[in-house]
Amino acid sequence: MNILEINNLNVSYGSKQVIKNLSMNIEKNKITAVIGPSGCGKSTLLTTLNLMIAENGGSFTGEILFKGKDILSYEIDYLRRMIGIVFQKSTPFPFSIYKNLTYAPKYYGIKDKNRLNEIVENILKRVGLYDEINKNLNMLATKLSGGQQQRLCIGRALTVEPEILLLDEPCSALDRKNTANIEEMLLELSKDYTIVVVTHNLSQAKRISDYTAFILDGELIEYDTTENVFNNPKDDRTREYIKGIYG
Ligand SMILES: Nc1ncnc2c1ncn2[C@@H]1O[C@H](COP(=O)(O)OP(=O)(O)OP(=O)(O)O)[C@@H](O)[C@H]1O
Ligand SMILES: [Mg+2]
Repeated sequence: MNILEINNLNVSYGSKQVIKNLSMNIEKNKITAVIGPSGCGKSTLLTTLNLMIAENGGSFTGEILFKGKDILSYEIDYLRRMIGIVFQKSTPFPFSIYKNLTYAPKYYGIKDKNRLNEIVENILKRVGLYDEINKNLNMLATKLSGGQQQRLCIGRALTVEPEILLLDEPCSALDRKNTANIEEMLLELSKDYTIVVVTHNLSQAKRISDYTAFILDGELIEYDTTENVFNNPKDDRTREYIKGIYG
């Protein structure tokens, strides 16, 4: 099932068009990687999918359907709950770990302390932090290591029970071990969530994604199973990119 359908999407900042007539469908409970050189429009695409684009000074034409309905027809708060985003430069809020994970649930009306504790515990387990930090929930979250902070940010996005997680370069600042941990976590999460991940790391796309979209200068050049994109690309530009010629 396609949880998202993007049809003829054009995105611009003022007079500058950044995404050009892009159409693609995102399959539910799969990991879709978005690759392409710096500046090709990957982050712009993600922010359009949960309607953050207007806040960033952009606008779009075309159609995006979430579960068959135009995203513009949903109430914006609900849409952003369902389609969570973790930005490239996400950092925890400068509060305790506990407060980072209860902030959104409280905002959405959960007051019961036991329920909040349960959410925190479940999320920490999901993102593989429980054993490491369950005894330090009052610690300032910004004191966690880089890898832990990234997992906490992904956990924080999960606290509102989204269906889709948009991740912009989740491992760009991490070493190999932390990257491997995050990749393992994403594979696990994809059983319950649909994940769209922007990555510069081609071997990461290869390792974890089911589908890969290659964007060049705002155009979707190739979109197929990851296996086909990497082993049997149809377009010469894809072939050159995955060989490392540009970007
Ligand atoms: N808020 C903005 N206002 C104006 N132009 C922007 C804005 N955000 C991005 N752009 C421009 O849109 C183009 C695409 O940017 P975007 O951030 O989507 O690229 P990207 O593929 O995510 O790049 P990177 O890999 O470096 O993160 C770039 O030319 C960028 O300068
Ligand atoms: Mg970007």
